Amino acid sequence: CRVRHYKFNVVTRNATKLCSSKPVVTINGQFPGPTLYAREDDNVLVKVVNHVQYNVSIHWHGVRQLRTGWADGPAYITQCPIQPGQSYVYNFTITGQRGTLLWHAHIFWLRATVHGAFVILPKLGVPYPFPKPHKEVIVVLAEWWKSDTEAVINQAMQGGLAPNVSDAHTINGHPGPVPNCSSQGGFTLPVQSGKTYLLRIINAALNEELFFKIAGHKLTIVEVDATYVKPVKLDTILIAPGQTTNALITADQNSGKYMVAASPFMDSPVAVDNLTATATLHYSGTLASTPTTLTTPPPQNATAVANKFINSLRSLNSKTYPAQVPSTVDHKLFFTMGLGVNPCPSCAAGNGSRVVGAMNNVTFVMPTTALLQAHYFNISGVYTTDFPANPPHVFNYTGTPPSNLQTTNGTKLFRLSYNDTVELVLQDTGIIAPENHPLHLHGFNFYAVGRGLGNYNPKNDSKSFNLVDPVERNTIGVPSGGWVAIRFRADNPGVWFMHCHLEVHTTWGLKMAFLVNNGKGPNESIIPPPADLPKC
Ligand code: C2O
Repeated sequence: CRVRHYKFNVVTRNATKLCSSKPVVTINGQFPGPTLYAREDDNVLVKVVNHVQYNVSIHWHGVRQLRTGWADGPAYITQCPIQPGQSYVYNFTITGQRGTLLWHAHIFWLRATVHGAFVILPKLGVPYPFPKPHKEVIVVLAEWWKSDTEAVINQAMQGGLAPNVSDAHTINGHPGPVPNCSSQGGFTLPVQSGKTYLLRIINAALNEELFFKIAGHKLTIVEVDATYVKPVKLDTILIAPGQTTNALITADQNSGKYMVAASPFMDSPVAVDNLTATATLHYSGTLASTPTTLTTPPPQNATAVANKFINSLRSLNSKTYPAQVPSTVDHKLFFTMGLGVNPCPSCAAGNGSRVVGAMNNVTFVMPTTALLQAHYFNISGVYTTDFPANPPHVFNYTGTPPSNLQTTNGTKLFRLSYNDTVELVLQDTGIIAPENHPLHLHGFNFYAVGRGLGNYNPKNDSKSFNLVDPVERNTIGVPSGGWVAIRFRADNPGVWFMHCHLEVHTTWGLKMAFLVNNGKGPNESIIPPPADLPKC
């Protein structure tokens, strides 16, 4: 293993898309940002220098950060932000992981333009558990707003309903041809007939789950969230913000140009957005004037297509990469989650009410001191550890909004002992928006042992849990009006954020955090913080 040094200069630059220009915050002037490469076991050092007028922090989404929560990145959870003119070196080691992840800003909505791919290669000499591809291609999906995203957040916080949706989706920074804006081309993926390519697909969008497909070609999924899966061949993949998917594609045509499409799944009904981002798969030797073979993206409510993808994923569970599902459970937790409406007489918009997000009826309030610092240095008054293991009212979803969705505000954590095993059922309350909630857990991968629609029934539903080869992920879509059950082992001491990866829902409070105590063994406690850790 070796040490990888990267430098991230946070700088503003002007960007023109959809025939309009605006200044955007970027890393090193790039959108999407630079790709980080490392191998399993490498030590990664990223020096982030903040040259802009905003506070900044960067999260290495899906990197386990064993005992190094100081390098995880969510602002006010594991670190104070890097202030204008300051810098911070994120220092962590990649342990037991290989595959595609992403990095992104983890403060306000800065990740709209501050994100990129994180590729972890297997240890030197260790092959992939699938045929070696001819080439690897990074495909970053995102969104683009013509307006300033900070203004969009303020609008979301005003009270009313959903904020503006983005003006376009993008594939590697390009929306593809846009009506009335002829100057914009799209991303081109050059291929040679007969060769196989590995696409490392990342959803870096703020607020959209996306379908992804390629005309005339099938995708063989081999990995999700940097964990290997049993290969499965499909037309369409579904990818939520924060998720990653590695898919093989064989260029099995002789020539031609084929449309690549990324389109939204289950937008909020009040903010319908039909924009499909397009790119082109281009066979070598094909004339530029050749017409492109088109594909029709699934409709936005194509739940069957989504379910087909979700239900087809299984851990590879091979000798080399066994699934390690906890077989016994120390904590059985049940969290309701979703959106609700609370009274807000002082809100500027929204007729005296505002949208809030909550888990177990708690709307999480961001602290002003980072939680990990408060925990490590015993600073009192920053958080409490009384996050409930169950909702305060028995939840029964009958299809109409129940009246017990009033929430209370608090910075509440759930405390776990080192190495505790957890089974967590996440029940979506299905109120207001029909979207899935892509729930992301920092610091751990988990196994998705069960999933269903309607109310979770502990007696019957737990009987059908897959404890053999469930998919292992760091971000999972909790179905609208349904539930998922996950299991993980709390083998990482620290404070670990868990939140909906739709940024607007995080903003509204759909988030909480776990506090994992140190263990008693020699390598079971949080390593001391680095000297340059930012102060609040
Ligand atoms: Cu990718 Cu807490 O985020």
